[in-house]
Amino acid sequence: MEQLNIQTERLKIRHIDLADLSDFHLYRSNPEITKYQGFDVMTIEQAQEFIKDNSTKHFGKAGEWVQYGIENRETSRLIGDCAIKLDSYDTRIAVIGITISHLEQKKGYAKEVMLGVLSFLFDNKEIHRVVEIVDAENIASINLLKSLGFRQEGHFIENIFFKGKWGSEFQYAMLRREWEETKIGKNRSVELTPR
Ligand SMILES: CC(C)(COP(=O)(O)OP(=O)(O)OC[C@H]1O[C@@H](n2cnc3c(N)ncnc32)[C@H](O)[C@@H]1OP(=O)(O)O)[C@@H](O)C(=O)NCCC(=O)NCCS
Repeated sequence: MEQLNIQTERLKIRHIDLADLSDFHLYRSNPEITKYQGFDVMTIEQAQEFIKDNSTKHFGKAGEWVQYGIENRETSRLIGDCAIKLDSYDTRIAVIGITISHLEQKKGYAKEVMLGVLSFLFDNKEIHRVVEIVDAENIASINLLKSLGFRQEGHFIENIFFKGKWGSEFQYAMLRREWEETKIGKNRSVELTPR
């Protein structure tokens, strides 16, 4: 069973455990954070249940979302989480998602995490294609994907009913060869260590 541990300059991407509960609940209980996401705000009990359930999951299983914690290396506190799912039919395709606490946004953390995760998937795991689906109104997320060089390849109109109304979504993707072609891919400085 693979325990993921990716180190970037300021952050560590690793499994979430119950010691993270209060940090995790702090942002997962904020409606601004969950506004564009498929899940809703969590009570502390739901957050605890989520962490317990997630701890049985691991990287590599087809069709299963696994949530990883994002730790600030300086403070050892959880500042967000990111998720990876390998496609049910072809595990060379990954789908990802990310959340950064409202208290820690716009410091470049999401970009740093995504670069670490992309490097892990493309350079270490030989993933062919990485996909992210975002709400068409989620400007922060769209800008994050654009700034990483993701390519917009779909605009679905009112394709999803959630939080009481029909929402529209964009699909963004990056191929392995696109990652390798980008300057980002060539100049990456991400340290990957098994736990
Ligand atoms: C989307 C999200 C992860 C971005 O996190 P972040 O740490 O603030 O992002 P960064 O500081 O790394 O910024 C990355 C890029 O996006 C841009 N950006 C970030 N937040 C933005 C905002 N609110 N409005 C416009 N642009 C924004 C930054 O300017 C930066 O672009 P640049 O590199 O060209 O300067 C964060 O806003 C979030 O967690 N939102 C709620 C959860 C969510 O909706 N997640 C996406 C669903 S999977």
